[in-house]
Amino acid sequence: MQILLLNGPNLNLLGKREPDIYGKEDFETFLDSLKNKYPQVNLHYFQSNIEGEIINKIQEVGFHYDGIILNAAAYTHTSVGIGDAIKAITTPVVEVHISNTFSRESFRHQSYIAPNAAGIIVGFGLKSYELALLSLLK
Ligand code: DQA
Repeated sequence: MQILLLNGPNLNLLGKREPDIYGKEDFETFLDSLKNKYPQVNLHYFQSNIEGEIINKIQEVGFHYDGIILNAAAYTHTSVGIGDAIKAITTPVVEVHISNTFSRESFRHQSYIAPNAAGIIVGFGLKSYELALLSLLK
């Protein structure tokens, strides 16, 4: 089973970035623990701060992977291009957010991902990614 964890801008700073909101753990440490816990899954990881690179990656895997777990970060709230890419592919996309975006500023309540996502998991810290993975494992 091929699953891509795809992170958008500033998520490379997890652990250092606003730890009161996003926690103190860096993503690589978390990813290692997830890979150990689910050895039956081929978990691939890509992070970019660049919108076009995220779209390229969605197109690259989006017709043959079994799932994409996408935290598009700030692009969630702005990117018609990422939303269109998700609409274009056949691989199911689960939208995740570490923080509860609905309890934050109103501009974070808008998502260009959600209308074409298989589901959305929001506000459970890094656990959101694991819950998304479980949803794809069924
Ligand atoms: C985020 C929420 C976004 O609003 C924000 O821009 C992020 C992270 C989250 O995981 O909580 O960068 O996607």
